[in-house]
Formats: sequence, C-alpha cells, structure tokens
Amino acid sequence: MGEPFFSHQHDAYRRWRERGGAHKVRFSGAVPVEGWVITGHAECKAALADPRLSKNSATEVFARRLGQDGSGGGGPGKGLTAHMLNADPPEHTRLRALVQQAFTARRVADLRPKIEARATTLLDALDGQEEADLISRFALPLPVAVIFDLFGASDEPGDPFRVRGNSTTEDGGDGEVSVLTAEAMLDRIRALIRHKRAHPGDDLLSALIAAHDDGDRLTEQEVTSMAFLLLVAGHQTTVNLITNGIHTLLTHPGQLAALRADPSLMRGMIEEVLRYESPFGIATLRYTTEPVTIAGTTIPAGEFVQIGLLAANRDPAVFDDPDRFDITRATPSRHLAFGHGIHHCLGAPLARLQAEVAFAHILRRYPGLRPAGPGHPPQWQHNARHRGLLTLPVRLR
Ligand code: HEM
Repeated sequence: MGEPFFSHQHDAYRRWRERGGAHKVRFSGAVPVEGWVITGHAECKAALADPRLSKNSATEVFARRLGQDGSGGGGPGKGLTAHMLNADPPEHTRLRALVQQAFTARRVADLRPKIEARATTLLDALDGQEEADLISRFALPLPVAVIFDLFGASDEPGDPFRVRGNSTTEDGGDGEVSVLTAEAMLDRIRALIRHKRAHPGDDLLSALIAAHDDGDRLTEQEVTSMAFLLLVAGHQTTVNLITNGIHTLLTHPGQLAALRADPSLMRGMIEEVLRYESPFGIATLRYTTEPVTIAGTTIPAGEFVQIGLLAANRDPAVFDDPDRFDITRATPSRHLAFGHGIHHCLGAPLARLQAEVAFAHILRRYPGLRPAGPGHPPQWQHNARHRGLLTLPVRLR
C-alpha cells in the first residue's frame, strides 16, 4: 500500500467499515503491519478491553513477529520493551500502579510554565521568517524537550529521539525500532538513569527509580523500558496532534475563524482534532490467545489484530456526519484516540496540555497564518500506525 492508501486512509477505512466484520490486511510502508483490521467504534472499543487479545510481548507469537522484521525481538531492542504497554495483568497492573504514583496530575500541571517557555523559545527562533516548516521547527522538538523536562534533564541536538519521516521505523511502544537507533536510545537512557541515581531530584525519572509499593520496585530494566515508553509513546503522537490540528484548522478556515473569535472553544477543538485525525491510526499490537469472534468474523488463535482508531473515530453510528470537522461538537467526545480499558493512555493529560499551549502560542503569534501555497500538497507518513504529516510548510505572515 503506497501513497494513495496513506493519502486516502479514511476512504479505505470507510469501505471496510461499511462491509462490516474484520478484514485480513497487510499495510506496507515504514512499519509493515499485518493481521486483521477492525474498524467499527463498538467493535474497537470492545476489542481494546478484551482480555483474550494479549499485549504480552514476551511470547513466541511476538518473538516471531518482532524477529521477522529484525527489530526489537532481540539485541538492544529487548532492553527497551519490558514496559506496561507490552504486558497483560497481573504484570501490567503492577507496572502501571508503580508508574502512576510517579506520573501524577500535579507533576503534569506544574509543567505548564516550562512548556510555555519552550514554545516561546522555538517560535522566537522563527522571528523574521516568512515561511517555515512547523514540524521540524516546532512540533517535533517541543514534545521531546517537554519529556526531558519531566525527567529533570535536557535534550541534546543529536538525540536519537528526534526522528521523523518515512525512513524511520520508530514506533509507539511495540519495540519496533531499528537496531542502531535502539542502541543509541538505550545508551542515552542508561546514562540518564545513572546520573539520576547519583543526583536524584524532584522529577519523574528520579520518582520512577524510587517508586515502590509494598517493598516492590521497578527493576533496572523496567525503569529503562518505562523511560523509553514515555519518550517514544509520548513523542510522535504529540507531534501528530499538534500538526494535524494546525493543518486541519488551516484547511477549515471557518472553524479557525470561530476559534480565533472564541478561544473558549480550544478544548473542544483539541478533542475534535483527536477524533478527526487521530494521531495513532491503529492501536499497538495485540494478538488472539484463543479464537475470537469480532463482528461476525472468527479470528483464529495466535493472529495479530489491528484496532483501527482512525476508523472508529469516523463511525457514523457514534458521530453525526463524521467526516465534518466541527469544533463545537459536544464534549467529552466519545473518540478512542487515547485508547480504552487498562492501557488507556497514561499521558493523555500531558498531551492535551502541550496541545493547548502549542495552539494558543501559534494562533496568537501569527494572525495571518496560512498554508504555504499550492506547491505544497500535504504528504502523509507512510505508516499505518501513526497518522501524521511529513512536513507542514506554512506562511507565517
Ligand atoms: C498508551 C495515544 C501521548 C504515554 C496509549 C494508547 C494510545 C495512546 C492509543 C493505548 C495503546 C493501545 O492500547 O494499544 C496517545 C496519543 C497521544 C499520546 C494520541 C498524544 C496526542 C502520550 C504522552 C505520554 C503517553 C505525552 C507520556 C509522556 C503513554 C503510556 C501508555 C500509552 C505510558 C501505556 C499505558 C498502558 O499500557 O497502561 N497512548 N498517547 N502518551 N501512552 Fe499515550
């Protein structure tokens, strides 16, 4: 599946949804994904909470899958994948509880001034420019810097986490990283942890190292994997939320004007972007531990199931006129952009906060913001998991 599929994903998903059931597919692109895809909102929501769909990556089924594309099945990738998004209960329950203690609402709320300062610095660097690519200059560096702020550390220009595009195989939590990038990430995260052990502070990484519950602690490998999960799961997704939002507003000038006239629509706008162009196109890997019947299709045991979040969020059974971008839709929205059930996104409050700051800063600074022109049609990443643009060229004034 090449450019036409990635440019017209919503059309393909609509056809699958209208046919009903589950469909056997193979998405090519940067991260090849194969298995059964499900697209209806009710089926996707049920599947996200179905204990017969396992996320335990320490199994033969996963080893086969991850070994096949040479990524994450062994070697350095293995040191990064012992995290909760790759675990089932009771392991998942234990890991999530330990991390939740450290990743508190207060810690996220306290980040607001730092996010504001980061956004200001990045936009100051564009002063005097007529045009800019908002991904490379703003949306990509912002979330990495914010996660490093959360860790009580500073990101560096050469950091392996600042990757993007069709050439990267980096992914949201399945351990699908190229061996070279995985090695660089592992080295960087281990060095950060060593530093925090020696110099603990009031930050998330120090709290993860210290997290304990009835004498239980995160092992060294679990802290490393958790730091990796936060960096990776919290990065590309947030880049996509910010850029999909700006792109969608610029292509819907009436909605942009409404938001400029009434900034109280901001939170509803963020939920509508999450629904309309969900940053995670499909949820992370799950496989059947026994035969499972979904929407009339029986999927045998040991098969991968792709839960189509992008598709579910445009299901007309739940959303009126789902292909209409409408920032005044009722909130809370029933979108599944942050997943559902025990793996519901732990970073959702942080993602929403970053998006709010990013949109407010960009709209305030650039009253004349508009697309860079007809020579720059949007180019979507060739990646079924991540719904995001490769570049976002805009005219700033
Ligand atoms: C899980 C989406 C930002 C940390 C998830 C899942 C989704 C998701 C769909 C569930 C995946 C599944 O069940 O297969 C998003 C979106 C984001 C975002 C759309 C931005 C717009 C973040 C941020 C962080 C984060 C900023 C933290 C820094 C996590 C973690 C999990 C997770 C730790 C695993 C939870 C578990 O396994 O219990 N995210 N995420 N995410 N997300 Fe996010």
